[in-house]
Amino acid sequence: MMDYRAPQLAVAFLSEHFSGNPGEALVLDVACGTGLIAKEMSALGFKHFEGVDGSQGMLDLAAQTGLYQHLSLALLGPEPLPAQPGVFDVVILVGALNAGSAPVGIVRELCKAAKPGGLICMIRANHRGELTAKYTESLKREIELMEGEGLWSPVGVKEVDKYMDYPHLDTKGAEDELVVTGTVYLYKKSIV
Ligand SMILES: C[S@@+](CC[C@H](N)C(=O)[O-])C[C@H]1O[C@@H](n2cnc3c(N)ncnc32)[C@H](O)[C@@H]1O
Repeated sequence: MMDYRAPQLAVAFLSEHFSGNPGEALVLDVACGTGLIAKEMSALGFKHFEGVDGSQGMLDLAAQTGLYQHLSLALLGPEPLPAQPGVFDVVILVGALNAGSAPVGIVRELCKAAKPGGLICMIRANHRGELTAKYTESLKREIELMEGEGLWSPVGVKEVDKYMDYPHLDTKGAEDELVVTGTVYLYKKSIV
């Protein structure tokens, strides 16, 4: 049995740095899947969620949580992010920032959707392999380019243990194969 801990890790890091009133904040959950982020954040007092996902099946499950006021279907990459620019206090993307999911260019769209001073939180698994290495390199370039353009600034970037955990397995001696670490990125949109 595997524990997917990315939502908890991302939301914990975000909440350490979020200084507004969670009850009033508007949150955009990109690649929302079944709605784990809204579940995690609503436990901290967040109430206003919009979600986007490329799968109608996932959106149906997210709708069943009853936590999202608005859900949109969009395959990011081929389609633009369907979100009003400049209005979200928090934009969060968990579990889809990798080769084969959302293309690197999505980070610019996340920033566009945030309001000035809003937070953009992203977490991804540190998988191995050439595709991941290339994706990571181009993600780093895009993030730095956006910093250089004055669009956003880093609040914190940190490596997290156990993005995936296997609590029921004895992983001793097999950590290399079984333990997946992750990186969480938190950025603040510039006030222009
Ligand atoms: C691992 S799940 C993560 C779901 C949720 N964020 C969570 O952490 O529980 C990845 C989600 O990203 C969505 N996804 C992947 N690539 C996408 C794309 N290009 N555009 C929109 N959604 C995408 C999938 O449909 C899936 O719901």
